[in-house]
Amino acid sequence: MLASDVGLGPAERYVMCNHKEEIMSDSTRPRSFPVRHVLQLRGMSPARRLLELHRLGIAVPDKEGLLSHTTEALATAFDAMIENAIGAFPVPLGIATNFVMNGEPRLIAMATEERSVIAAASKAAKLAEDGITVTAGKASTRAQILYSGLPDPPAALAKLRQWRGHIEDLLRAECNPMAKYGGELRVEAPRFVPGDRDTLIIVEIDIGTADAMGANVVTRIAERAAERLLRLFTDRRPTAVICCNDEAGFPVAAEATFRVAGGAGQVRKVLDLQTWAAHDPPRAVTHNKGVMNAVSAIALATGQDTRAIEACVHASAAKSGGYKPLTTYAAVDDDRVRATLSLRLPIGTVGGATAHPTAAFCRKLMRVKDAADLACLMTAAGLAQNFAALLALSGEGIPGSHARLAKQRHP
Ligand code: MEV
Repeated sequence: MLASDVGLGPAERYVMCNHKEEIMSDSTRPRSFPVRHVLQLRGMSPARRLLELHRLGIAVPDKEGLLSHTTEALATAFDAMIENAIGAFPVPLGIATNFVMNGEPRLIAMATEERSVIAAASKAAKLAEDGITVTAGKASTRAQILYSGLPDPPAALAKLRQWRGHIEDLLRAECNPMAKYGGELRVEAPRFVPGDRDTLIIVEIDIGTADAMGANVVTRIAERAAERLLRLFTDRRPTAVICCNDEAGFPVAAEATFRVAGGAGQVRKVLDLQTWAAHDPPRAVTHNKGVMNAVSAIALATGQDTRAIEACVHASAAKSGGYKPLTTYAAVDDDRVRATLSLRLPIGTVGGATAHPTAAFCRKLMRVKDAADLACLMTAAGLAQNFAALLALSGEGIPGSHARLAKQRHP
């Protein structure tokens, strides 16, 4: 952002960089950008940073308390979470009702700015005959170790493959703190990735992550594993070690039978919408966005890494080589459809932002038992949300449905 965007005077102008904001002389802009002062926001409280920005004419005073309406304790927590925190950006938090998951009535907390999401999910949940059935498998996340610049990649790969079992035993014994939570460690078959200048070797380790989302823990495990491989298989350090967002977390499957008030004609339209998504990637993207309206809203309310979840879900939609819907629909009879949704969800109930007090409050409200239970709730809500969208599209249309909801709220 340039100074002109924030209404600064001509004498001093600011260039806002990722990690610091530099004040520069107007006369030398834009050729050389000499820095006269560095605006230092580190080591200040969020309130002090705002004052400093105000003093320098960058920020307008927060008269309404829009940024600082949190408690002192929260402001301190935010300051520890991110760099240069100046406050909070509140998003509406609401509750979706009418959900019965695996025979148990459940409330669902959603943080969303989209008007119809909570009403639509609640309406669809009411139409689920016998509620929504959901099962989750065990969670695991993959860490990847990249080797590049090896003198003889085929020989290195052959050695790694030959020693894979031994490496796995060694890493299980020495490098897996998740073992005490039942998280197993598995080394995948090491593989080549053809590079532009070099053949890359990728070593992948799957780690059971139990109740943690696992990004940090699997990366740390892989770093320790790389140390062990250093002595065993190569004298080179890896080029990079990182957790993988593909096929991460819990595999979850939800199914439900939904009543369709419009009879056989509307049942056929709902199936047509599923067929459209199955054969037309642009529609499948929007179809899956409807699922994510619920998933991302619960993710935000419970302190998840929303970007990891979205990356992972869209990657599974593209697994077949083309982008596909994550749901299936079949007619049960003239008044009902059977719907399923399969997701892979990298989520947790411990670690990271799950400790945020509002996230903890939402988990209590939802009576979340563990991370698998939360993954099930997210998938149940995703299925209901998708059905709600198909119902609206095959009925009164999305604008009509939004207008009706608004009217109900403000008669
Ligand atoms: C809007 O947020 C989501 C929908 O577009 C999903 C869909 O079209 O299936 C209504």
